[in-house]
Amino acid sequence: MSTPSLKSIVVPQVLDAALRPVHWDDYVGQKQVKANVRIAIDAAKKRGGMPEHFLFYGPPGVGKTTLAHLVATTLDAPLKSTSGVAIERAADLAAILTNLDPGTVLFIDEIHRLSHKIEELLYPALEGSHLDIVLGKGPSARTVELALPSFTLVGATTRVAELSGPLRSRFGGGIYQLDFYTDDDLRDIIRRSAQVLGLTAPEEVIERIAARSRATPRVANALLKRVRDFSEVRERALTAALCDEACKLFGIDSLGLTKDDRRYLETLMNGFHGGPAGVRALVAALHEDVDTVEHVYEPYLLRLGFIERSPRGRILTPAGREYLNGDTLPI
Ligand SMILES: Nc1ncnc2c1ncn2[C@@H]1O[C@H](COP(=O)(O)OP(=O)(O)OP(=O)(O)O)[C@@H](O)[C@H]1O
Ligand SMILES: [Mg+2]
Repeated sequence: MSTPSLKSIVVPQVLDAALRPVHWDDYVGQKQVKANVRIAIDAAKKRGGMPEHFLFYGPPGVGKTTLAHLVATTLDAPLKSTSGVAIERAADLAAILTNLDPGTVLFIDEIHRLSHKIEELLYPALEGSHLDIVLGKGPSARTVELALPSFTLVGATTRVAELSGPLRSRFGGGIYQLDFYTDDDLRDIIRRSAQVLGLTAPEEVIERIAARSRATPRVANALLKRVRDFSEVRERALTAALCDEACKLFGIDSLGLTKDDRRYLETLMNGFHGGPAGVRALVAALHEDVDTVEHVYEPYLLRLGFIERSPRGRILTPAGREYLNGDTLPI
């Protein structure tokens, strides 16, 4: 069996890391969030302390993790990253918190995945920098209070609604929604990424990729890299025509929709007469899981105005029908 070349192992990660902004100036858009977070950080720095805890929420790929890294960099603080799924037991949380260097930014991704038990343990840690740990069981059980180093928690989630009220109320630094990006912002991101990747991308190509990026920076960067691969393999320059050809091959249309999105819309139209369709029935017809449908397909279809969520279920809008009938933007 041949071993993959070092280049193929190392380069993708190196490039991904290279595309992630490490300066505020390169973090495009989300102006209000940026301004608010920076005020909280600058105020804390002036006081010589740590800012209060932050929560970032929004769809996948819109820059939550990137922002957490920027918070740590700006504070010149070490960053410890973990995830709500990884902290299962009280001992996991205790191990993480007691081992933090003072002044660390603790990033908990998918924070909605923390169990209630862990959340409750976390409350005093977020308020008073201590942890109440129960030792032993039954009548001989006793609680010990562990002092913790100072830290700032940055939580990130795609599902803010699943966070309990008490946990939400402990993000004194603010709860910020990171939203989908405008076309202008996406173009700026793609222009910068093309530069980092050493590509000469004409404005037409940048526009096309932006329009097909589902309003999401991660999708924009991924598509840019796929189109770059296509141009390298075909040994052709990066032009608008080449970009269209590549997207056709990838099955991505002029709005960034794929065959999965179309299947969703077609199922809603043909299987449910355009709705309302209860999410469970729709999910069963698509052979998908509720999670993927609600968090991967639907947010962008909602944003395009192709579907609506009503109390009685999902509805295909007139714009959605028009799209399926091919009256809008061809591929
Ligand atoms: N505001 C931005 N400006 C420039 N590039 C961005 C921005 N936001 C995100 N990106 C790019 O998109 C990529 C994905 O962003 P990131 O990993 O921060 O998203 P996320 O919201 O944490 O996603 P997930 O919910 O899947 O964890 C980054 O590596 C970065 O290259
Ligand atoms: Mg992330």
